[in-house]
Amino acid sequence: MAKTRTFRSCIWILLFITWRESLLCNGLEVLPPKDISVFDPGRLGFLEITWSTARSSINMTKCSVMYHLEYYNTYRDRWDAVRTVARSYSAQFNLMEDIKVRVYTLLNGPCTNNTMIKSKTYTEMIQKPPGTGIQDTGVQDLNCLFYNMEHMLCEWKRSKKTPATSQHHLYFWHKNLEHAVECPKYIMSGGVRSGCNLTENPLPLFKDINFCVNGTSHEGDLRPTCITVQMQNHVKAAATQNLHLQAGPDKQLELHWEDPVGKVPGHCLEWEVEQSQEGADGTISLRQITTKDTKLTIAPSPDTGTNCFRVRSEMIKYCADEGIWSDWSPQACYPVLNKMFTTPEPGQVLVPVAIAIAIVSLLVLSLCVWLAVRMRISSGEKKLFSLLSALFSRNHAHREACEGKETCPHTVI
Ligand SMILES: *[C@@H]1O[C@H](CO)[C@@H](O)[C@H](O)[C@H]1NC(C)=O
Ligand SMILES: *[C@@H]1O[C@H](CO)[C@@H](O)[C@H](O)[C@H]1NC(C)=O
Ligand SMILES: *[C@@H]1O[C@H](CO)[C@@H](O)[C@H](O)[C@H]1NC(C)=O
Ligand SMILES: *[C@@H]1O[C@H](CO)[C@@H](O)[C@H](O)[C@H]1NC(C)=O
Repeated sequence: MAKTRTFRSCIWILLFITWRESLLCNGLEVLPPKDISVFDPGRLGFLEITWSTARSSINMTKCSVMYHLEYYNTYRDRWDAVRTVARSYSAQFNLMEDIKVRVYTLLNGPCTNNTMIKSKTYTEMIQKPPGTGIQDTGVQDLNCLFYNMEHMLCEWKRSKKTPATSQHHLYFWHKNLEHAVECPKYIMSGGVRSGCNLTENPLPLFKDINFCVNGTSHEGDLRPTCITVQMQNHVKAAATQNLHLQAGPDKQLELHWEDPVGKVPGHCLEWEVEQSQEGADGTISLRQITTKDTKLTIAPSPDTGTNCFRVRSEMIKYCADEGIWSDWSPQACYPVLNKMFTTPEPGQVLVPVAIAIAIVSLLVLSLCVWLAVRMRISSGEKKLFSLLSALFSRNHAHREACEGKETCPHTVI
């Protein structure tokens, strides 16, 4: 009952407010702002939005004017809103997507009888991405990682349509910089730029950093590719090298390992332990265990099969919004496995395959040589045949002559 009454009174209040606002709005027409524009000061996506006040019939001297700005945040896929008294605002946009901005006018003060009034409509601006550069020439998989909090590297892959004469450039910007700065030290691979090494000039943590890779070629400019990241969310810890595994009392397995050597604080890591267990019938079952400790005790399993473990780490939510898995540690098994039976890594599979390929090629090669030799001699085959038959008959005679003797001299053909 009480709830229904509260609900009803809420509706009445809402109706009253609406009535009051429309009453005021009837007399006072609040117009939305005009001349909205978006300006790119070369900060790789941190754009400045400006607008001006529309001329109104209201006597503004008794008014305080504010603006309600909404802009589409493509990173979060939603509209963000701010209220400001200024006629400009800077926000982060993804340069590769549409830029959508809406602004309303808000009035308050004696002119509105101290009630906040919002313009009924907004002024909107939608700006398409510039679309400069040759299509499909933007770099792929652009990513920046802070390896073990020691090495800061950005890397990318060339798109297939990149002209051969292309040269890539990486630029970055964050709020401590006046304008975008080019990469101080490129990473080369196969004679072309494939990344940027920022280790000697690391970028700040907990700050949005805009990275863009653009480029030039004889055929024209390449299409830019941009990302925005905070480096603490892109920490990839080093893989753990040593896993210690032993059987404790009651046959339980005790596993422990060390934090990676380097600058990643141990309390910032959580671990995933992967247990692969060989069943009695030879099937392998996998199990993942998550832990904040660097040790784990595993109850003995009814199966007597082998247990193998490997671990990897990731930053926890207290230290970063996002984590990136480290590479896996080497495996540790109990009972200790013969190397032959460990699960092969892709690299290890390659060795037997290479050997097999070598053997097959050798066989094919010998077959070819044999065939070639045969083809060459086939012309003089008759000669050879007569030679062979002559030899054979000599041999035959020789063998007959040897019969009955203890030793016989070797026959060389
Ligand atoms: C606005 O109001 C002020 C003070 O009430 C007055 O002096 C001024 O002349 C008015 N301006 C206009 C354009 O009506
Ligand atoms: C302004 O609001 C007050 C109450 O908040 C009311 O008494 C007064 O009549 C209003 N004046 C006008 C001009 O609407
Ligand atoms: C990046 O630069 C640092 C310091 O100059 C160097 O130790 C490291 O090997 C470089 N890494 C790559 C991938 O070039
Ligand atoms: C690449 O981006 C930088 C920084 O915005 C700019 O100064 C440069 O002119 C661009 N180069 C090309 C070829 O677009």
